[in-house]
Amino acid sequence: MIEPPTTVLEARQVTKTYPGDIRAVAGVDLSLERGQLLALAGSSGCGKTTMLKLINRLEETSGGSILYEGQDIATLDPVVLRRSMGWVMQGDGLFPHYTVAGNVAIVPRLLGWDEAAVTARVREMLELVRLDYAEFAGRYPDALSGGQRQRVGFARALAGKPDLLLMDEPFGALDPITRDGLQQDFMALQTQLGFSTLMVTHDMAEALIMADRVAVMRDGLIVQSGTPGELLKSPADDYVAALLETPRRQMRRIAELEA
Ligand SMILES: Nc1ncnc2c1ncn2[C@@H]1O[C@H](COP(=O)(O)OP(=O)(O)O)[C@@H](O)[C@H]1O
Ligand SMILES: [Mg+2]
Repeated sequence: MIEPPTTVLEARQVTKTYPGDIRAVAGVDLSLERGQLLALAGSSGCGKTTMLKLINRLEETSGGSILYEGQDIATLDPVVLRRSMGWVMQGDGLFPHYTVAGNVAIVPRLLGWDEAAVTARVREMLELVRLDYAEFAGRYPDALSGGQRQRVGFARALAGKPDLLLMDEPFGALDPITRDGLQQDFMALQTQLGFSTLMVTHDMAEALIMADRVAVMRDGLIVQSGTPGELLKSPADDYVAALLETPRRQMRRIAELEA
């Protein structure tokens, strides 16, 4: 049997220039190992969302190459490629006119599963994200809380059994308590199912807590990548140090209050 490559995703010197000479991505190298979570962190406008769109070919690269499961994505059918990756959009991206079950069923239906398999998968996914099937399957997104909507977003993204999950600021719109609970649940889900995740975030604390490795992006470039411990121990420059300072200051303040 041929073992799949241990590197799920690799970006080599990827660039993207939008019309009007806007250089959103200026030469990015990334690598994501199987089963791991890589956080792509950085301030608004540094090119994070563009990087995700290049990976599932919602946008085409201007230069460099992206390998998915060892294959250059430029040689793959973009539609097939997109269905093999889960996508958790910024906000929640649910279709408002589809029920919860309808939203979760989208990719399995596109993949041509029969209706019995689709229904079984919807049940299984709602259970995995801890939403009661009887209570939630028939509801519409506007009858859900923010946290519940995001749970449906995860269920939908994972329903087609993707190897790779792309997430764009998935916890950004949630209150801190909901966010914390959902982060913990998400990490348990990843351990249980074994998929690999590339998570975009502007929140450095979130990146440190959740990621196996963090790549810090600034103005279309990766300025540092390493484990959370490596970043904390030796930030590469003042920008990375400044991003780390916010969670550090909060931790110090809490420690002071507790003392
Ligand atoms: N479709 C587009 N056309 C032109 N410029 C774009 C487009 N999408 C993003 N940009 C620009 O590219 C840069 C990076 O944007 P983006 O990838 O959305 O950053 P981030 O997700 O880190 O906030 C920004 O300057 C943004 O204005
Ligand atoms: Mg963005």
